[in-house]
Amino acid sequence: MSGQDVDVAAIAAAARLLEQGQLVALPTETVYGLGADAENPAAVARIYAAKGRPMDHPVIVHVAPGAELDHWASDIPYQARALADAFWPGPLTMILKRAAHIPDAVSGGQDTVGIRCPSHPVAIALLQAFKGGKGGIAAPSANKFGNVSPTTAQHVRDEFGADGTVAAILDGGQSQVGIESTIVDLSRLATHGPVLLRPGQISADAIAAVIDSVPAAPDAAAPRASGTLESHYAPHTPVAMQDSAELLATLAQLQAAGRKVALVHYSAFPPAHAEVQLPSSPDGFAHALYAALRSMDQAGADVILVEAPPRGGEWLGVNDRLRRAAHGSSGIVHGLLNHHVPS
Ligand code: TXA
Ligand code: MG
Repeated sequence: MSGQDVDVAAIAAAARLLEQGQLVALPTETVYGLGADAENPAAVARIYAAKGRPMDHPVIVHVAPGAELDHWASDIPYQARALADAFWPGPLTMILKRAAHIPDAVSGGQDTVGIRCPSHPVAIALLQAFKGGKGGIAAPSANKFGNVSPTTAQHVRDEFGADGTVAAILDGGQSQVGIESTIVDLSRLATHGPVLLRPGQISADAIAAVIDSVPAAPDAAAPRASGTLESHYAPHTPVAMQDSAELLATLAQLQAAGRKVALVHYSAFPPAHAEVQLPSSPDGFAHALYAALRSMDQAGADVILVEAPPRGGEWLGVNDRLRRAAHGSSGIVHGLLNHHVPS
């Protein structure tokens, strides 16, 4: 199976594995997820073990189109139903007060739950086959904790293929959006208003157009979200991000110093040791970004240099992910220029 085709037999088999408490990797329009039955605490615990993720990081529950929100959440504000009507199926996750039966493992011990209805046809078919469409699939991105999220089935095999912890990997082609869903917290509307926990393709303005209130950036008291850790989505090779003109100079200096540069850019640049040119639209850039970071991570370079994208509204999501990918690499360019290349 490849592309967006729905292989009914493979999906039925995957649904049975989920019902038995196994892990199944599934394609979504954002990134691939590592799924388990959200109402089976032992199955959800397997996700944490497979990812090497701390137990207090909550996971998103994926539901089928038309799912009963009241089964998963309580005290649901009308704004949540309006956003679901406007953006589901699609790349928006809402944080709501959780229903009483949601396992602690799903909510990371918090009194909230993250819910989203994905739009990828394979994800939808799986959700409809699993528990007769009434279940929820808890699924973080299908990568080891801190790594770049997978946007192809091969990326998932690269992360988990060998260790036997994932019972099935459904192939749904390359994820269309390419970066993780927008997360908006509606669980404390009365006191905090809507809060944007993670930017994504669905912008704060698009949300505001539906609920008449612009989501605020998170404050220090916001619930923990691993996607909000400073260092995350990171390749193993150090990443540095610079504006175009500065990058051009840095590239020349590093090359003159004998350094191997892997370049991720969208405008014209001289050749580097390895490079990927991304589309210059925000959606095109996001779509191709993680595959570019993964392939540049394999290039044996000293550093991955990324041409900083524009800062504006639609670029918020990719800027956020790149800032995290580059976190902890500050000083890397300086270091490479000021130490001799080991011979
Ligand atoms: O696009 C996506 O959202 C992908 C696909 C697979 O759906 N999933 C994803 O999952 O990115 P993950 O676990 O890698 O990131 C989910 C984020 C985490 O930062 C997590 O902490 C946050 O959502 N989250 C989940 N439930 C939450 C809750 N109850 N309160 C606050 N944050 C929550
Ligand atoms: Mg993740």
